[in-house]
Amino acid sequence: MKVLLTGGTGYIGSHTAIELIKLGYDVEIMDNLYNSKITVLDSIKKITGVKPKFYQVDLLDKEGMDKMFAVGNYDLVIHFAGLKAVGESVKKPLKYYENNVGGTINLLDCMKKYSVKKIIFSSSATVYGDQGVAELTEEMQTGVGITNPYGETKHVIEEILKDVAEADEKFEVAILRYFNPVGSHPSGLIGEDPNDIPNNLMPIIMKVYTGEIEKLKVYGNDYNTIDGTGVRDYIHVVDLAKGHVAVIQKMKPGVLFYNLGTGKGTSVLEMISAFEKASGRKLPYEIAGRRAGDLAEMYASPKKAEKELGWKTELTVEDAMNDTINYLNYLKEK
Ligand code: WQD
Repeated sequence: MKVLLTGGTGYIGSHTAIELIKLGYDVEIMDNLYNSKITVLDSIKKITGVKPKFYQVDLLDKEGMDKMFAVGNYDLVIHFAGLKAVGESVKKPLKYYENNVGGTINLLDCMKKYSVKKIIFSSSATVYGDQGVAELTEEMQTGVGITNPYGETKHVIEEILKDVAEADEKFEVAILRYFNPVGSHPSGLIGEDPNDIPNNLMPIIMKVYTGEIEKLKVYGNDYNTIDGTGVRDYIHVVDLAKGHVAVIQKMKPGVLFYNLGTGKGTSVLEMISAFEKASGRKLPYEIAGRRAGDLAEMYASPKKAEKELGWKTELTVEDAMNDTINYLNYLKEK
């Protein structure tokens, strides 16, 4: 099976490429390298022995995408490409709607023109908004109370995919709602290495550890949670990648939805402790005010993916921290 990964040199895309190549899938990657590095392709080759064919193409470059699809003969697209900085999306909403939604429409136009009938979409737990409860299931209503344009783009794209599947009875969609991806490949050769200024907890912890950022700001310790700090479902990126592989064989006409998470919540202070244990160093932090738009606690109910895909997470937050330290040491020596 031939698979195109949009955003495939990115954090989740690159880890998914590795899992697919290991299973014999023919993988090609398209990325604009806005938030990833082309050297990831060399790391994929070191890990798997295969260097995927690469196209430096932007979702907004319809002509470039058309040239790629004209020769690609893809069976499936896994759509990772998109802007994902929540804070930036609040400041630059049009950039996010144009890139994420407009870009996806360009992609779907190409798929239609070249009769590519399967897509797996990298969505996000953000589409649930504030459900008033911490554990989130796929049956819950989405699109209400989303607190940022980034999350809205994910919701809008889900709606577009539903409508396209409605209009074409042969179209197969799997929407995977990620919780909080963390960790790195155990080889230490790839991991989260964003070009942009990170918003997320783990890349910021990584930059505090390397000294690029002086100290971590803990956004609030007065939430009604185990220790007052925010609680999230941190899923190891290798488990997340394997979730994509698991869904491929189950795809069928229509739309499938799955939460990809551990089903367990971890607080910010617990993440700091886990990182300190793995690194053997104290992590400088201070308690700051709450961040606008943050919820107190959210984690996945992963029961549906386990039951229908036979997939569940195997790695822990501790594994993610150890793999992250491994990756940071690799980056230091590079
Ligand atoms: C996690 C926790 C913060 C930074 C977002 C997107 C979601 C997904 C993951 C893409 C919260 C706290 C964070 C910091 C902190 N993105 N925190 N200090 O907000 O749960 O989810 O990223 O798929 O779609 O919405 O992730 O990592 O930003 O925050 O205290 O410097 O860490 O308050 O409790 P979030 P996050």
